[in-house]
Amino acid sequence: MQDHSTLSFTRKVGADCVRYCGRSGLGPVVRLLAGNRLFRPVFTLRLCQAAAALPAVLRGPALMASRLLHRWTQQAAGMDLPWETSVGPGLRILHGWGLVVNGSARIGANVTLFHGVTIGQKDDITPAGRVTHYPVLGDGVWVGPNAVIIGAAEIGDESIVGALSVVTRPVPRRSLVTGNPGKVVGEVAIPDIPNPAPLAGSGLSAVRGEEPGPPVAGLSAGPG
Ligand SMILES: CC(C)(COP(=O)(O)OP(=O)(O)OC[C@H]1O[C@@H](n2cnc3c(N)ncnc32)[C@H](O)[C@@H]1OP(=O)(O)O)[C@@H](O)C(=O)NCCC(=O)NCCS
Repeated sequence: MQDHSTLSFTRKVGADCVRYCGRSGLGPVVRLLAGNRLFRPVFTLRLCQAAAALPAVLRGPALMASRLLHRWTQQAAGMDLPWETSVGPGLRILHGWGLVVNGSARIGANVTLFHGVTIGQKDDITPAGRVTHYPVLGDGVWVGPNAVIIGAAEIGDESIVGALSVVTRPVPRRSLVTGNPGKVVGEVAIPDIPNPAPLAGSGLSAVRGEEPGPPVAGLSAGPG
């Protein structure tokens, strides 16, 4: 997974917008905000993170307002997506109901999550105490409905996690994972990334059944 932490708010939102409607720009973002309950929590997560990065004098009120908005957008979408979660550009959520993400999980760029997906912590209770692990999803990962990805599960770039899988361990890049317990049952020939946001250096252009979206203005791995 590439480091996308230095991308600006506008570049991340532009990439999210491409994932939802195939285009970026102010018009599409406004239309998605007005009419798409699944885009709104992704947008307000970005807003909270942008507010948290403001100078101290502005941070308090900006973060409070954006956290209130984020609470509302999550409730309207029926999901828990904490604003602290590290999420790469181009997150696409489908249906969304029942999605639960831990705030310490890490999600790469161009990730696709269906309804009922859990990306959560797992505690190992040892004689020395509780040891908690959090999952990492690489760039271009696709996660089907009701899959559970917990603990030290690191999902390699461009992998596919089938519906109802339970994954607790790392899987390599381009793995096709199914079942409970989740097992690698094959290799992904072509990653499944509907409307991929083109990111400089990611190589994420091959998609199943869809053309890559147009380049997002100024979208690159550099700081925004
Ligand atoms: C994981 C997935 C992407 C694999 O797709 P695929 O590569 O086309 O795989 P196939 O359908 O050819 O199935 C291959 C084998 O895996 C099994 N399999 C497929 N998906 C499975 C899953 N989620 N869990 C367990 N086994 C699964 C099939 O039964 C088949 O087994 P067999 O070889 O013994 O007959 C797909 O099955 C999946 O889970 N998609 C989710 C789609 C969905 O939920 N859509 C609704 C959205 S609202």
